[in-house]
Amino acid sequence: MSPLIETIGVGKSYGGVVALRDVSMVVEPGEVTCVLGDNGAGKSTLIKILAGVHRHDTGELRVGGEAVRFASPREALDRGIATVYQDLAVVPLMSVWRNFVLGAEPTRGIGPIRLLDRARALRTTRNALSDMGIELDDLEQPVGTLSGGQRQCVAVARAVHYGAKVLILDEPTAALGVKQAGVVLRYVVQARDRGLGVILITHNPHHAYPVGDRFVLLERGTVTGSYRKSEIDVNELTRQMAGGAELEALQHELQRVVRP
Ligand SMILES: Nc1ncnc2c1ncn2[C@@H]1O[C@H](COP(=O)(O)OP(=O)(O)O)[C@@H](O)[C@H]1O
Ligand SMILES: [Mg+2]
Repeated sequence: MSPLIETIGVGKSYGGVVALRDVSMVVEPGEVTCVLGDNGAGKSTLIKILAGVHRHDTGELRVGGEAVRFASPREALDRGIATVYQDLAVVPLMSVWRNFVLGAEPTRGIGPIRLLDRARALRTTRNALSDMGIELDDLEQPVGTLSGGQRQCVAVARAVHYGAKVLILDEPTAALGVKQAGVVLRYVVQARDRGLGVILITHNPHHAYPVGDRFVLLERGTVTGSYRKSEIDVNELTRQMAGGAELEALQHELQRVVRP
C-alpha cells in the first residue's frame, strides 16, 4: 500500500528566499506525523504545498502513490486532504452550526428552489460533535465566541465528519494553555484512531511526543532528523529541537557565570 502522502525531495522558494530544500516525509493512515521546527523553519510552507495553497518548485508530491500538483486548495480537499490553519478558516460572526456545514449545506425544497435545511444542519452538527465527545451548549453562538481550543476541536470534528483522509493541523496548540492543549491533542488522537493520517505541526516537543508516531524535524527549510517513535525519546527530541549542541554550550557557559 502506498502512503497517504509522500514528499520526495520537495523544495520551494519565495523569490530569492529558500523556504524548503529537499524535504522527504511520509504520512500513513492511522498515524500522527509531527512536523517540528522553530519559527521560519518552513513548516507552514510545507503544509501549504500539501494543501494546494502553494506549488513546490522541485521534487515530488505523491498522494496515494500518484504524483500530483494541486492547482488549488479545492483539489487537495477533493483528494481528502483537510487543513486547519493557524488563523482558522472560519467565519467568526457565523454560528457554530453554520460554520460546520459551510460548503456542504443541507437543503430542502422542490425543484430549483432550495432552502437551507436549518434543522438538519443543526442535527448534523450536534451529532458530529457528540460523536467526537464534544459538548457545546449553544450551537447558535458565533464561532468567534468559542475559545481557541474549542474552535480547533470543532474544526477537527468537521474534517472527520466530512470524510477527510488526511488532517493537517498547523500549530493547533500554540496559543493554548496546558489544559486546552490537552483537549485538542485528545481529538488529534481520536482522528488518528478513526484511521486518518494526521499531520501535526508544532514547535513544542511535549505536545508532539505523546501523540506522535513519526517526527520530522525542520530547520531553516531542511529536514535535520526523521524518526519513528521507537527511535527517539522525548528528551532527545527536545534536545534536537533546542539546537542540541548549541544549548549544551549555553548551559556550560551559564554554569560558569553562575558559579564563578
Ligand atoms: N508568502 C511568502 N512570501 C515570502 N516568503 C515567505 C512566505 N511565506 C513564508 N516565507 C518565508 O519562508 C520561510 C519559512 O516560513 P514558514 O513556512 O512560514 O515557516 P514556519 O511555519 O515554520 O514558521 C521564512 O523565511 C518565511 O519568511
Ligand atoms: Mg507557521
